[in-house]
Amino acid sequence: MPDVDPRIEGLRTEALAALASASDEAGLEQWRITFFGRQDGRVSALLRSIRDVPADQRAAFGAAANAVKVELEGALEARQEGLKSAALKALTTEAALDVTLPGRPQPLGRLHPVTQTMRDCLTAFQEMGFRVAEGPEVEWARYNFDAARIPEDHPARDMWDTIWVNTLIDGERNMLLRTHTTPNQVRVMERTPEPPVRVVVPGKCYRQEATDATHEWMLTQIEGLAVDEGVRMTDLKGVLYGWARKMFGADRKIIFHHSYFPFVEPGVEMAIDCFICRGSGSACHTCHGTGWIEILGAGMVHPEIIENAGYDSSKVTGFAFGLGVERVALLRWGIEDIRNFYANDLRFLSQF
Ligand code: DAH
Repeated sequence: MPDVDPRIEGLRTEALAALASASDEAGLEQWRITFFGRQDGRVSALLRSIRDVPADQRAAFGAAANAVKVELEGALEARQEGLKSAALKALTTEAALDVTLPGRPQPLGRLHPVTQTMRDCLTAFQEMGFRVAEGPEVEWARYNFDAARIPEDHPARDMWDTIWVNTLIDGERNMLLRTHTTPNQVRVMERTPEPPVRVVVPGKCYRQEATDATHEWMLTQIEGLAVDEGVRMTDLKGVLYGWARKMFGADRKIIFHHSYFPFVEPGVEMAIDCFICRGSGSACHTCHGTGWIEILGAGMVHPEIIENAGYDSSKVTGFAFGLGVERVALLRWGIEDIRNFYANDLRFLSQF
């Protein structure tokens, strides 16, 4: 180029060098703004300055400036193309994208078998008009024992070897991990000013238990409670039969024995025929040879509990039941050992 103005040549050299060192999309954009930005771009400024050049040199200056502008625009485009194809090449060679490889399976999570069973039980009761409520896992002894007619010196307290929460802290023994969901009978009645009450309360319970095939130190229970005028034992039986048929099918055998729980009178235990030995094996681990597996306790709510809740026990009666969800899950799938549920072995859990 003959006699190019040194300002133009300087800008050209500088711009080309800067372009060569821009290594990515962002660098190129920065470059474009620096040189071609509408307001402050240096090439744009150069072009604007043409009108200030003395008339006799203006044509040559203008031609040179425009030539540099066109050259730089072309250089930018070439650099953009270069970066693009380099990136594509890196993708296919360095990242070694092999589109023929099979996809990686995504493992699907699922609900724990005890959760599934709990939800199915709750649904069965909900279909019979029960509502679902919850209560605290850390409970007062007052609700866990006293309100359920289990006073301090009552031998029934021996039935639950309790995990006390505050014994170690202040020597008091009034706060514990609930040993059953029964405290919610009183909790629910206390916040329901008037019967009827028809409620099921699911939740975890804790006991200091020597574990075996049918006992765990943590268990899931569902407490049921119905209180209204004219509620009778036949209502209790009807509800529990309905639930059992839904969970185990109509051909399952069910038996009620008389039993004792301080919070009901009369009290019963409901058992289901042993699915492992069908009642024939004296060495059966699941039923211990009896042919029957106890799944729940139940009975007619003790009038004292109805009175304590502020209801008139001469007008209303109620039934209650408490079932162990793990037991139900064992029966449902023919699982032999309850300890499988909380051993966290995926080979076991992924079967459900
Ligand atoms: N709370 C009892 C237990 O944990 C189960 C139970 C028995 C609940 C009889 C009840 C009932 O509501 O009526 O062993």
